Amino acid sequence: MRQLKLSRVFTLMESGPVVLVTTHDGKKDNIMTISWTMVLDFTPVFAITTGEWNHSFAAIRKNKECVIAIPTVDMLDKVVGIGTCSGADTEKFSKFKLTPVPGKVVRSPLIKECLANIECTVVDIVKKHNIVVLEAVAAYIDPVRKEKRTVHAVGDGTFIVDGRRIDRRNMMAAKIPYGA
Ligand SMILES: Cc1cc2nc3c(=O)[nH]c(=O)nc-3n(C[C@H](O)[C@H](O)[C@H](O)COP(=O)(O)O)c2cc1C
Repeated sequence: MRQLKLSRVFTLMESGPVVLVTTHDGKKDNIMTISWTMVLDFTPVFAITTGEWNHSFAAIRKNKECVIAIPTVDMLDKVVGIGTCSGADTEKFSKFKLTPVPGKVVRSPLIKECLANIECTVVDIVKKHNIVVLEAVAAYIDPVRKEKRTVHAVGDGTFIVDGRRIDRRNMMAAKIPYGA
């Protein structure tokens, strides 16, 4: 993977893809699926919604870090499988044939097979709404990967795949931050 500028990280999340979140609890790696995500502004700060009902949450709360990995449409069955079993009784990296790669800053692993990976630290947990606010501290993108289409959850078990990209950069020039 090629290092990605932190000023571009929000473009991985702004389109609202289903993401994978990895953690390391001190003993083993785990992965969960998250579709509730939100970019907060043009900085590399964003939020996910999760909580105690997931095994991953204890590691997120204790170690204050995770990795957000961006899967593509060819990985959809793995993404759904990861989100329908628990790290409490399943070794998800081996079960779903994914490769953990050490990050540079956090202990949670990157996922080699994903389009991009964002190493994150937890900057806030808004308990009342189960919102976990994350700040990216390093990010990487696979420059040679052919499949780049991400998937978007409708919430009823169906998904929308990225379609045509439409360019309005000129019209939006005043609103697009330098470097994005
Ligand atoms: C498509 C999909 C999207 C999901 N999105 C979320 C989410 O946004 N927040 C959440 O807490 N759980 C979400 N889940 C459920 C968790 O991924 C699931 O509970 C998972 O088993 C947790 O794994 P863990 O127990 O190993 O942490 C989603 C599951 C799927 C299949």
